Amino acid sequence: MAIAEPPSPAGPDGAEHGAGPPLRLRRGALIEALGALAASADLDGLRARLAVLRANVTPGGALWAAPADEAVVFPEGLLLAELDQIGAALTLERARYYVGRLSRAAKGERTAAINEIDLNRWKAYDDILTDSLWLIERRDSSGAHSAEYWGNFVPQIPNQLLRRYTRKGDWVIDPFVGSGTTLIEGQRLGRNVLGVELQPSVVERARALVAGEPNRHGAICHVVAGDSAETDFRALLAEQGAASAQLALLHPPYHDIIRFSDDPRDLSNAASVESFLEGLGRVVANVAAALDRGRYLALVIGDKYSRGEWVPLGFQSMQVVQSQGFLLKSIVVKDINGTAGKRNQKELWRYRALAGGFYVFRHEYVFLFKKR
Ligand SMILES: C[S@@+](CC[C@H](N)C(=O)[O-])C[C@H]1O[C@@H](n2cnc3c(N)ncnc32)[C@H](O)[C@@H]1O
Repeated sequence: MAIAEPPSPAGPDGAEHGAGPPLRLRRGALIEALGALAASADLDGLRARLAVLRANVTPGGALWAAPADEAVVFPEGLLLAELDQIGAALTLERARYYVGRLSRAAKGERTAAINEIDLNRWKAYDDILTDSLWLIERRDSSGAHSAEYWGNFVPQIPNQLLRRYTRKGDWVIDPFVGSGTTLIEGQRLGRNVLGVELQPSVVERARALVAGEPNRHGAICHVVAGDSAETDFRALLAEQGAASAQLALLHPPYHDIIRFSDDPRDLSNAASVESFLEGLGRVVANVAAALDRGRYLALVIGDKYSRGEWVPLGFQSMQVVQSQGFLLKSIVVKDINGTAGKRNQKELWRYRALAGGFYVFRHEYVFLFKKR
């Protein structure tokens, strides 16, 4: 599935999505009307009742809730699409199935333990990706987000992962903070984030960016300077009053593709792929020690090209995480068209590819693991 746009401003926290203004309806009356619909003896009778119901859900209609009423709120587009689907059903049985689904959505939420996606309204989350190919045409540059830090990821990556794998108030560990993209998204979505970044000047910049973003949910986004290969994340969480984390989101250097600093502890300065993987393994172990069982670790990384050979750094890194007992849940391939790294070198790389018999990188990976 492709997403051309960042999540709409109307629903940045994933609470409700769908076209049109919200319809605020009397919950009990709606459930009753849906019950009557399901009790119809035949399809014609059901469609006749549906026409009345449809008229009654419009603003000012008989089902419209007064301020004191117990209300259920639907995005207009979502509710009307559901009613259309009921009306288009070819059998009474199918129509009743759709009525039942809408009735459950009217009655209340059904969420998994690890996120806030209401499965009774799963159709409302059409901007949440579920395919393994992510084509993100345009970087979200809203608010504090900026592409200025060379090697930062598009905010849609943490946005998707935070909404799939966390609930408000959960703690997320980001051991490679960079410009703080995960923290900015976490703050927007009401997720607490503990970040570690090697370079103190980069830490300062990330803190400033996060401070420039409204904190509507009172999230704690805490960044410290340090080497994640030597960090006790559990102790850092304890300082913030948290016992453990519910998601880890790792976006390490892609070995030496971009050198982030001169610091020998910087994974982008690892002398070889083997020592990069060894360092990454230590970060994974530190993060894993603070992550709850049954929760997710996401690793965002790409491959590299060296001395005429494609180095499958992504899969090698994936194996580092698997070797620590994590269950591999998904391999997502994400396009990297137009990211800052290759913007000026595109033509040169195309020439090199034609001359050298290889293909230019257009993708990176988002590996999803579950802690057993
Ligand atoms: C690919 S960038 C992360 C970008 C980040 N996701 C963002 O959107 O800005 C990797 C970051 O890891 C940092 N880094 C490298 N080695 C590290 C280590 N051992 N401990 C902590 N941070 C490290 C680098 O300084 C760099 O900022």
